[in-house]
Amino acid sequence: MNKRVFSLFAIAIGLMLVVAACGGNSTEAPVAQTEAAVVVTDAPVAATEAPVSLSGDPIRGGLLYDEWTKVLGVDAPEGDQPLWATQSTNTRSGGTTWRCKECHGWDYLGKDGAYGGGSHATGFVGVMQVAGTDPNEILAALKTGDHDFSAYMDDQALIDIALFLGENMLDSAAFITDKAAVGGDAANGETIYTEELH
Ligand code: HEC
Repeated sequence: MNKRVFSLFAIAIGLMLVVAACGGNSTEAPVAQTEAAVVVTDAPVAATEAPVSLSGDPIRGGLLYDEWTKVLGVDAPEGDQPLWATQSTNTRSGGTTWRCKECHGWDYLGKDGAYGGGSHATGFVGVMQVAGTDPNEILAALKTGDHDFSAYMDDQALIDIALFLGENMLDSAAFITDKAAVGGDAANGETIYTEELH
């Protein structure tokens, strides 16, 4: 190989390296730009469509689910909850009929759980199936038709309940059956409950 041919060859190799390097850069650059563009496109969509992220206290929501009048320190509304009349198996009346747990069960399973039979049976569905649902949707269910609780509870109370049902419900079967607690310490449970309530 003479010198001239060699240097042409070297220049060619050099050019190829430069092209390769630039090629690499120019491939990356558009990708970065595309990603940036995607983010820019997403932003307005998120701003208009993303549900408001609710914040509150889901543990309080659990207590409210059990007996909201007690937690809020208010009297139950007069008479029976309107949906109560759609069942006849549970013969209780008045304040109790406004408790979420009286219709949907303390185990959140309604007719498929502990309240499937006996004096508490109403035939109403549980609420376990809404676990994982957007709390905004649950909140809406608590403000609709004969199931509208907004006249009796402030928005934060309803939000706390929605957060509890959407994100914090536990499968109680791991801790308690309809006959007995599975392990556990009732005295300690009472202490925790009382602390949360105050
Ligand atoms: C008097 C009985 C009663 C009371 C009290 C009651 N509910 Fe309901 N609830 C119902 C009935 C009936 C439905 C409708 C079930 C259906 O769609 O068939 C329902 C529906 C729901 C749903 C929607 C379930 C689903 O699968 O879409 C949620 C969530 C719910 N209730 C939560 C609550 C909470 C929380 C409370 C307490 C603040 C409460 N309910 C109090 C009877 C009651």
